[in-house]
Amino acid sequence: MIILVGFMGAGKTTVGRLLAERLGVAFVDSDAVIEQRERRPIRAIFAEVGERGFRDIEERTIRELLEGPPCVLSLGGGACGREGTRRALGAHTVVHLHVGLDEALSRVGRDADRPLLRHDDLPGLYAERLDRYRDTADVACDTTGRGVEDVVLEIVERIAGITGTTDLAGR
Ligand code: S3P
Repeated sequence: MIILVGFMGAGKTTVGRLLAERLGVAFVDSDAVIEQRERRPIRAIFAEVGERGFRDIEERTIRELLEGPPCVLSLGGGACGREGTRRALGAHTVVHLHVGLDEALSRVGRDADRPLLRHDDLPGLYAERLDRYRDTADVACDTTGRGVEDVVLEIVERIAGITGTTDLAGR
């Protein structure tokens, strides 16, 4: 299982899809699974049960997905702020997709579906999260100013370097 973490706009979904295709496994996006199971969009979950309620659902969902078949699993930008979620990631290969804040914001625009974009101190949130991603990830890959193909190639090489294989079937 390869887990992608990183700030909103880091390219987790775009990179994740291509990476999964290259590795011959499924791509799973924890936010998409949450929305499907809850039958409501993330922004409605935030509005109805608040961020803490969302993080509970998120942690539960990620734990379940980690028990499932090997895949490339992309997590929402705030997922590894939860200690329980971070602990659950322990044995898996975690890749931090890094992106500069300006580029992240220009990629996501003013997306009303991302409640955290309304945070009153985005630079502060970004800085705090960078520490979390760094603590959690085995590999960091900078996506700032780079194309998807290039990023995926680097990730495959780096994963092969730490695991000795890019064959995820048994992982
Ligand atoms: C969040 C990021 C979102 C989603 C939710 C909360 C965050 O995912 O999980 O809106 O706390 O940064 P993306 O990182 O895929 O935008």
